[in-house]
Amino acid sequence: MSSAEQVGGAVAALEADLRGLWADPPNLPPRWFYDERGSLLFDEITRLPEYYPTRCEAEILCTEATGIVGDASTLVELGSGTSEKTRVLLDVLARRSGGASTSPGGALYVPVDISEEMLLASARAVDAEYPGVRVEPVVGDFTALAGSLPGTPGERLVLFLGGTLGNFTEAEREGFWRMLRGVMDAGDRMAVGFDLVKDPARLEAAYDDAAGVTAEFDLNVLDVIGRTVAVRGLDRADFRHESVWNADESRIEMWLRAVRDVRLEFPTLGRELTLAAGEGIRTEIARKFTPDELTAELSGHGFAGRAVWTDAAGDFGLLLAEAG
Ligand code: AVJ
Repeated sequence: MSSAEQVGGAVAALEADLRGLWADPPNLPPRWFYDERGSLLFDEITRLPEYYPTRCEAEILCTEATGIVGDASTLVELGSGTSEKTRVLLDVLARRSGGASTSPGGALYVPVDISEEMLLASARAVDAEYPGVRVEPVVGDFTALAGSLPGTPGERLVLFLGGTLGNFTEAEREGFWRMLRGVMDAGDRMAVGFDLVKDPARLEAAYDDAAGVTAEFDLNVLDVIGRTVAVRGLDRADFRHESVWNADESRIEMWLRAVRDVRLEFPTLGRELTLAAGEGIRTEIARKFTPDELTAELSGHGFAGRAVWTDAAGDFGLLLAEAG
């Protein structure tokens, strides 16, 4: 695919997602945060004192690597990114398989990511670093897998890390579990990272840090929109970032609130959006779970809970479940 086609595809995809601006409440899907600058800002977020999830999950992966990998010979990672935190699990896989992987039954790593450039570069790096592990990258949307996963049935471990699960609405989670159960075989396992319900003040701070990095990350989506589609009246100075705990839905919500009356015109969509001062656009949801809640939800979709680990402080969780 040429980069012109990719850009063209992005314009059409963003225009489709912008329809959410006329929903109640106005909302945008979080995937538009991650242009080059947004990805760098997110990287910065993961190192902020207020943003604990990344450190906590790394701690769990480090401490529990052997138990997480178990008897798996294939790791399928959904949204693999740089594959950075997966290395502790690849270490276990490589150590166990021993030597070079030549037999079809050997150790296999299947990173799945929508961002082709990053995926292929990371896959090459893993391939060079782990001679005992075959690497088969899959470019694509991990919410729309079909067919059956690579590897031996019953020996696969699907990894869905980072707490990205929290970005899904209830309906999206239902669809996601159904899709996953469809591409997995009985005996395959999955490990899902999830953020735990905790003091709302800490949650709100994790999504509204003192240094203002998350605010910048949130506002950056306006720059992405302004650069990608035709729009008049868009000024990031008209918005401020907000992070609020929604107790009814057990989730953090990020909003861009209009600080004055705003009117945005989208000529190619033939629509305009008016926001009165104080009204806003919901840019992200980050659902928080209790272990029981998530285990029950999964058992309703054909997955038996096998283990739940948390970091020592009890801030973040990793759930291991087996397809029945
Ligand atoms: C990448 C979706 C896990 O929800 O915590 C961090 C994204 N947004 N700070 C999260 C995010 C603002 C993050 N996930």
